[in-house]
Amino acid sequence: MSVLVTGGAGYIGSHAVLTLLQKGIDVIVIDDFSNSSLESLERVKKITNRDIKVYKGDVADLRLLNLIFSNHDIHTVIHFAGSKSVGESISKPIHYYNNNVVASLVLINEMMKRGIYNLIFSSSATVYGNSNTMPVTENAPIGMTTNPYGTSKLMIEKILDDVTRANSSFRVTVLRYFNPVGAHFSGEIGEDPNGIPNNLMPYVCQVAIGKYKQVSVYGRDYPTKDGTGVRDYIHVMDLAEGHVAALEHRNEGPNHKVYNLGTGKGYSVLDLLTTFERVTFRSVPYVLSERRPGDIAECWSDPSKAYRELGWKAKRGLEEMVRDAWNWQQKNPNGYIKA
Ligand code: UD1
Repeated sequence: MSVLVTGGAGYIGSHAVLTLLQKGIDVIVIDDFSNSSLESLERVKKITNRDIKVYKGDVADLRLLNLIFSNHDIHTVIHFAGSKSVGESISKPIHYYNNNVVASLVLINEMMKRGIYNLIFSSSATVYGNSNTMPVTENAPIGMTTNPYGTSKLMIEKILDDVTRANSSFRVTVLRYFNPVGAHFSGEIGEDPNGIPNNLMPYVCQVAIGKYKQVSVYGRDYPTKDGTGVRDYIHVMDLAEGHVAALEHRNEGPNHKVYNLGTGKGYSVLDLLTTFERVTFRSVPYVLSERRPGDIAECWSDPSKAYRELGWKAKRGLEEMVRDAWNWQQKNPNGYIKA
């Protein structure tokens, strides 16, 4: 029996595949490599000394899905595949709805037809929009998304909600990630953004290594302790372990479960910058600039439900996140493309 991991070569996917393999679970990957590299999985194989069957292609490709489902005895699908850039989603909404929502529909439909009744879905804290009460619990209202990427995650969550109501055998665990950062401690796999990074940690790493001059701190007048945005950064290996916990508890409780995966701690942009400088002994020049449109002041999780029901909690602190992100950056200054 195997687990099918869609988008398994990507940033979070590759760390999850590694963690699953180390738990002795057999993994099949489907990935179109549009925003990832086969090299990540080659490295995962090396670290774990285990094999991974990899299929190159689109989740919406019915022929390929059928081939995979016929060739392997799959009991659960962990669905990471999708496009994830907020900015790009605003200029290419159709692409985002196709690649995220339509592809997920195709996948869910095929799973139902084949009686593969376990799905773990990669969602995001972005579905909470501008939630007013911190920390955010899973009961907070969802729906005020501000861009097609966020709306695509929300739509998939709604679809899964409806499907699980209609079919009580179909079991879904929705995992809402806060801000994943860091890398496997080996520095062999990590985050490899296309072009200029949009997210804070990879941008800071690239400033520290000399690719960019300085960090623009977006906003200094938020109602937070130092005026900069506050987020719940979570180590990608903690996140990966959250998927294993969800997998292990998939047959317990209701057939539609939702969990926040965060640390429960909020750090400001300036907290992250000072921690980075302290841990890496590198200076990170920055300028305080205008707010980035669509950003919120603060967002951090209440992750206690995942602890209560899955026995999972994040173990790694901000220093470890920084240390591992920097280790990956130094070992792979150009990402998976060798210098
Ligand atoms: C963003 C996405 C979110 C997605 C998540 C993935 C938006 C509005 N949201 O979250 O949907 O799930 O990435 O990790 O884009 N910052 C700077 N300078 C920078 C970059 C960021 O000051 O160069 C600040 C931001 O204003 C924010 C914090 O750093 O306060 C974190 O930003 P980022 O890493 O982009 O994540 P989010 O915006 O929280």
